[in-house]
Amino acid sequence: MPRRPEDARRVIAPTARVEELRVAEEALASMQTQLTGALKQKERLAQLGGAVAKISHDLRNILTTAQLFADRLEGSADPTVARSAPKLIGSISRAVSLCESTLAFGKAEEAPPALKRFALAPLAGEVAEGEGLAGEGAVTCLIDVEPGLVLRADPEQLFRVLSNLMRNARQAIEATGQPGTIELSAGEDETEWWIRVGDTGPGLPAKAREHLFAAFQGGARKGGTGLGLAISAELVRGHGGRLELMRSDADGTEFMIHLPKDEDPSA
Ligand SMILES: Nc1ncnc2c1ncn2[C@@H]1O[C@H](COP(=O)(O)OP(=O)(O)OP(=O)(O)O)[C@@H](O)[C@H]1O
Ligand SMILES: [Mg+2]
Repeated sequence: MPRRPEDARRVIAPTARVEELRVAEEALASMQTQLTGALKQKERLAQLGGAVAKISHDLRNILTTAQLFADRLEGSADPTVARSAPKLIGSISRAVSLCESTLAFGKAEEAPPALKRFALAPLAGEVAEGEGLAGEGAVTCLIDVEPGLVLRADPEQLFRVLSNLMRNARQAIEATGQPGTIELSAGEDETEWWIRVGDTGPGLPAKAREHLFAAFQGGARKGGTGLGLAISAELVRGHGGRLELMRSDADGTEFMIHLPKDEDPSA
């Protein structure tokens, strides 16, 4: 058997002149072709399984956001309805396009980023609002981003990364029962943009630190799946960048996203 049975180029080409031999070779060729197809199908299904797990993961987060706004719409008859409605629609269409792009790409890996130039400050504000961090509460959110800071990235993917980091920070702070602060700051130099998400929470538990960015393995939170950081790291890597844990101790945790500025990832 060939070493890589799923490789269709390795299917033998019948060459024999003797009739019986030729028939046997053709039968073998068709068996190999069928096997190649079956293996490809299996691989595709395995990848789709991975993709579905990831979709449901982030879809849950996004729909929670939609729920947050929808809750306000209930009992309407007040002017906030008018303001909440477009946000609800925005959240839901975000969920829909996430499903569509993942399904269209059909792989366990994330689709390559669709790079765009956009201002970071409004996106960061939207993430905070989506995480319920905009108003009063035990968790204070500070966004320290120059309004003029424009970066080149996939805004949908960056939205997901920042949502995961800020959600983790909020959950970690809330679990302590004490008030706390999440701070998002950002900047740039000649070679890269950086975004820092820091919190005053209790720090990463040992299990999370040992399996940092590994899917399903680092989850140390009740009700968590341990996918958020793995997805975030993968999305940042897809931009040619990296997600880094800068610090984590009893005074809090700090993650840093580095996004390179070079337009050609092979350069
Ligand atoms: N800012 C933080 N402060 C403290 N612990 C954190 C922080 N961020 C992540 N963690 C820890 O790391 C673990 C892994 O985080 P990750 O986002 O990958 O998974 P999760 O939050 O458990 O589940 P989900 O897949 O729903 O995001 C968490 O369970 C939590 O224990
Ligand atoms: Mg998480």
